[in-house]
Amino acid sequence: MGVFASARIQHALQKGWHAWLAGSFLVAYVTADENTYAMHQFAGYAVLVAIVARLAGGLLAPAGSPLRLPRADLKAARAWLSSRKGRHPLFAWFAVVLLAVVGLAALSGAVADSAAWMEHPHEAISEASLWVIFGHIAFVIWMYAGKKWAARVASWRAGMRLSTLTKENVR
Ligand code: HEM
Ligand code: HEM
Repeated sequence: MGVFASARIQHALQKGWHAWLAGSFLVAYVTADENTYAMHQFAGYAVLVAIVARLAGGLLAPAGSPLRLPRADLKAARAWLSSRKGRHPLFAWFAVVLLAVVGLAALSGAVADSAAWMEHPHEAISEASLWVIFGHIAFVIWMYAGKKWAARVASWRAGMRLSTLTKENVR
């Protein structure tokens, strides 16, 4: 697979793609007004192209590549719940749900462009996708930073308790 086989290139591609998707979603969301319709259209189609590119890349990527599409597997989630070992299954579930709901928001927008009856469903799906995104951001922050903060607070509290106990023993 040439240059695409390099883990560094694959990582850079993922980051670039994520910035493209998140950036164009944000622009589409804040320009969803009649006065800024041209911008909304442009950003909305940029979201649609990003999702189609991700699906195509995921289908074409060789087995084992991080560019393969994420798999939300109920069996694997149940196994994780009993062992708590390995990657948290919510990473894959969030990825699949996000790709689906953000893809649907953009696709319904493309339909609403020429079919007015789709405007309300498009608005509803777009609003719903924003809540999934909030959940995704909260989950990612918790997994990458929240656990470390919680561990720090716990060790600080354990230290405080220890120093109180030591003082009580000295008295
Ligand atoms: C501050 C905002 C955000 C942060 C910090 C963030 C962070 C991340 C991280 C760290 C991952 C990789 C998770 C993993 O290790 O599997 C990820 C994946 C993903 N994010 Fe975000 N994200 C943000 C906003 C968004 C937005 C606005 C969207 C959608 C419009 C989005 C859609 C996705 C999708 C679809 C994936 C899965 C990619 C895949 O595996 O195909 N994210 N995000
Ligand atoms: C994921 C990307 C998108 C998001 C988050 C999004 C979001 C929204 C939202 C929230 C509204 C309701 C605005 C309101 O009435 O207050 C809206 C309206 C609309 N969007 Fe999108 N949209 C996206 C993609 C697209 C695309 C690709 C098109 C195609 C051109 C499009 C066309 C429309 C149309 C025709 C309306 C109705 C405008 C009106 O009520 O006058 N959208 N969009």
